Parts: sequence; C-alpha cells; structure tokens
Amino acid sequence: MVKNYPVVSEEYLIAVDKAKKKLRGFIAEKNCAPLMLRLAWHSAGTFDQCSRTGGPFGTMRFKAEQAHSANNGIDIAIRLLEPIKEQFPILSYADFYQLAGVVAVEVTGGPEVPFHPGRPDKEEPPVEGRLPDAYKGSDHLRDVFIKQMGLSDQDIVALSGGHTLGRCHKERSGFEGPWTENPLIFDNSYFKELVCGERDGLLQLPSDKALLADPVFHPLVEKYAADEDAFFADYAEAHLKLSELGFADA
Ligand code: HEM
Repeated sequence: MVKNYPVVSEEYLIAVDKAKKKLRGFIAEKNCAPLMLRLAWHSAGTFDQCSRTGGPFGTMRFKAEQAHSANNGIDIAIRLLEPIKEQFPILSYADFYQLAGVVAVEVTGGPEVPFHPGRPDKEEPPVEGRLPDAYKGSDHLRDVFIKQMGLSDQDIVALSGGHTLGRCHKERSGFEGPWTENPLIFDNSYFKELVCGERDGLLQLPSDKALLADPVFHPLVEKYAADEDAFFADYAEAHLKLSELGFADA
C-alpha cells in the first residue's frame, strides 16, 4: 500500500524523539517490553478494512476498550505509560502507543521498526471481538489478519514471532507461562521452540501450533527458526504495516 504520511510540525517531531528516549529508559528499567508490545498490537489489530473502523488510533485510552476480554491486563500498560504521556501533551495517544511498541522491540534486541508520526486520536473504540482467539486455527487467523486487517500469510507468521517476548498470565488469559527461555529478549527463539515441539515450562497456544499444521505457514516457521535475519526483516515489515493500518492510506 502506498502511504501518504501527514506532515507534522518540527515541535511534534522533537517531542517524538524525546518521548522515544524516555520510553527506551522506562521500558528497559521496568522490564515491561512484552506488555508494551501487546498494547501496540491490540491497539492496531482491531482494524477492519471493510468498515475502516478500529486500528491504531488511541482508543485504547478508553476504559471501554480496556474492558474487552482480550485486553485483560492492558490497563496496566496504560497506567504505566500515563506519566510519560503527560510530559508530551502534543503527541496523540495513537502515536504514543505505537511508539511504545516500536521501542519495546528495539530495546529487547529486535529489529528497528520505522515509525511515522501523525496518527490522529479517534473517539470511538472498536466493537469487541476483533482480536484473534488463541483456541482457534489457521482459518481463523486468516479471517482476522487477512480478511479483517488486510495483512498477509507472511505477516501472520512473522508477527506471531512477537511471542518471543513475554508470557501468558492465568488471571489475564487463562493460559500460563512463557513461549521461550528468555522472554525479555527479542530473537527467533519462538520459532526454534515451535519447530522443536513442546517442552516443560514453556507454552504453545493452539494458535501458535496452528502455524506448524498449515502448509503455507509451516515453511515460514522453518525459515525463521533457521535464519534470524530473515525473521527480523519480515517482522519489521509486518510490524510497520500493523502499526499503520488505516493510517496515511493514499
Ligand atoms: C496470532 C494471534 C495471537 C493470539 C491468539 C495471541 C494470544 C495471546 C495470549 C492469549 C497472550 C497471553 C496474555 C496474558 O495472559 O498475559 C498473549 C500475549 C502476548 N502477545 Fe499475543 N497473540 C497473538 C498475536 C500476537 C502478535 C501479532 C503480537 C505482536 C506482534 C503478540 C504479542 C504478544 C506479547 C508480547 C505477549 C506477552 C504479554 C506479556 O508478557 O504481558 N501477540 N498473546
């Protein structure tokens, strides 16, 4: 998709730069990169290309969206970020949450995802039920990522690699445990674990295992397990697309 990015003021660009630096220190110090990445993803992943509603437009700031069952625990991320956001009133929440996602990947050793500012804040949260269901398989993943959001098969597999960070919390999702042995490091270990099969202490969701069972997804899992550079390149491209769904479309 050709993008037509809005022009933002010099003052805005300076604020983005300063906020990025503050976020780097804060996210590293609090070890909250996984939750910040989940916030950015859950903000953007509600985009529906047919109705052009949802998406990365700051609506997660509203309690109504935080209360969606898929978003259990996201209120913690919002609360953690608020004192930094208050220092940058010029920035939209929309940009700020996506910036936090990009920084989360960067400070944990992942690829640099380009960031373009200028997302407006919208007032209307999306309807509930647009984020993927962890109990379902590849048809469902395609319904959500391709039909609803407008992404691709490759994006599904690359973005699933976001589970290289963080863990499941029983009280938030009903699942418990990390996907990898180093959940604060962004690397290709999520794919290596998938290829190796289940191991004590580590977790694979049904939606993660679905990547192995699908004839299109499986070769990409193997490729990313064998070649971290290939994963980083495709992840950065997919994360950029995710963070700009419905934004700056020409
Ligand atoms: C493919 C469909 C997906 C499903 C079904 C799914 C499901 C889940 C579930 C059930 C959790 C556990 C939440 C908790 O208990 O705290 C989780 C956590 C997480 N997800 Fe996903 N997810 C998907 C895709 C993604 C994508 C695309 C990203 C980012 C690119 C992502 C990033 C994360 C991160 C970083 C966490 C850990 C959060 C933490 O440690 O607090 N997920 N996901």
